Amino acid sequence: MSRAEAKRAEAKRALVPYESLANALGADRIARELQAAGHEVVRTGGFGLAWLEPMIVIDGEAFGPVQDLDALDTVALGPLDELPALARQQRLVFDRCGHTDPFEYDPSWLLEQLEREPRQIIEEIKASGLRGRGGAGFPAHIKWQTVYDAVCKTGAPQKYIVVNADEGDSGTFADRLIMEGDPFRLIEGMLLSGHATGADKGLVYLRSEYPLAAEIFARAIDLARTLGLLEKFDIELFIGAGAYICGEETSLLESLEGKRGEIRVKPPVPAVAGLFGQPTLVHNVITLCAVPGILQIGGKAYADIGVGASTGSMTFQLAGNIKRGGLYELPFGLSLRELIEDWGGGTRTGNPFGAVQVGGPLGAYLFENDLDTPLSYEEMAKLGAGIGHGGLVVFDDTVDLVQQAHFAFAFCEHESCGKCTPCRIGSVRGKEAVAALASGEYTESRLEVIEDLCEVMEQTSLCQMGGMTPIPVRSALGWAFSAQGGNRSGIGPK
Ligand SMILES: Cc1cc2nc3c(=O)[nH]c(=O)nc-3n(C[C@H](O)[C@H](O)[C@H](O)COP(=O)(O)O)c2cc1C
Ligand code: SF4
Repeated sequence: MSRAEAKRAEAKRALVPYESLANALGADRIARELQAAGHEVVRTGGFGLAWLEPMIVIDGEAFGPVQDLDALDTVALGPLDELPALARQQRLVFDRCGHTDPFEYDPSWLLEQLEREPRQIIEEIKASGLRGRGGAGFPAHIKWQTVYDAVCKTGAPQKYIVVNADEGDSGTFADRLIMEGDPFRLIEGMLLSGHATGADKGLVYLRSEYPLAAEIFARAIDLARTLGLLEKFDIELFIGAGAYICGEETSLLESLEGKRGEIRVKPPVPAVAGLFGQPTLVHNVITLCAVPGILQIGGKAYADIGVGASTGSMTFQLAGNIKRGGLYELPFGLSLRELIEDWGGGTRTGNPFGAVQVGGPLGAYLFENDLDTPLSYEEMAKLGAGIGHGGLVVFDDTVDLVQQAHFAFAFCEHESCGKCTPCRIGSVRGKEAVAALASGEYTESRLEVIEDLCEVMEQTSLCQMGGMTPIPVRSALGWAFSAQGGNRSGIGPK
């Protein structure tokens, strides 16, 4: 054995993440230093444990956050397999992410699955109870069945799979993390859903703010083509232009068609007439990435995870004022308190918990009294809240809820597509009225104006952008709208 070979044989295998957050915190430099020290470095996806990044693994031992290789002992976390923050998760979507080089892909399992009868796959999805992870939580199999059954209107028998990777919700990063860390999981989901529904073309609509995800996913498409996986089903990547409303599925389709991102009136739903008027299965990244896991364990076994009609695992993302921010893939049904306190470690500032906004900028603010509520679609709905894409933004007790209500209207004003009046004008008037509240004018008539606006927006907006803006407004101003549930927050003027 030559000296160089001997050195290489001794070299320890180091896993170093290659994803936006870890890279921003110095993962590239750490990788170079490990290489220079003779380690065999494998660039992997991230594990999603944001507070430990850059987190590296050397011969099965985890370290993080790593800044100085000479001080590794001070950030030793123990064996990766025993790390509670990972071992206690139930990773069905993210099972490979972090452990492997995403470009060392073995397609044999996928090829076997693509031999299955399409109807059989749809039956598994139905049995799993999978619901959309993009926000609305709509049962996936209904859309699959509709596209499967669809007879194309235009005579050209074309069906599409469209992946919604616009990920506009505040505090969310699950789509990015999987696309950067395990792009083949999404390719598997796309090919399997295409095979099951009879679509032979897939388009991924990715937000422009994710350049690394774009680079990695484009490389994965090339590799998939080289592996012969794209002969019957082709995949194209599109980059959005930074509009929140283009995450709504019909605006997204308009944008994909090269038009301005404006809402289409439904019906028809995209599964009947979507991209270029053809039947289109639109799904969030994580919904499609759940499909391989469902087929691996079986639809019934997947349905046994979680609670009630909230089946399987959810990729919860903890952000904001939180000690251990990151992504935790867990069965539905744990309480908000468990997620925020046990997994998240409470507020980063150490101040008492104040509020949490669940499900993105159109989601409800929930408070101490709500923390024992299980995280399921049904239980959240009882609070007038939703789970959305699984993002939770935590605030401590210094949160200014009037400012948050103001932000909700301002966000709607900024992101409104402008097609309907309640949203386009209501958001502006709402912002003005809350600004007046913020300046201390807590008058009954002002609150009435805000409540009137909320009612009009909720009832008459063309889409959920205007229709759901009242949710954060009302919940943030819960103390003022006693008729809407009273002072649940315990914050604000009594
Ligand atoms: C204003 C607005 C923004 C949305 N943004 C996103 C988004 O960024 N990503 C996403 O997957 N779904 C988003 N949605 C939900 C989509 O319209 C649609 O329900 C989803 O893509 C369907 O996929 P799913 O069944 O897998 O959830 C948004 C909806 C609205 C009303
Ligand atoms: S509610 Fe807002 S975003 Fe939706 S169609 Fe109307 S103006 Fe456009």
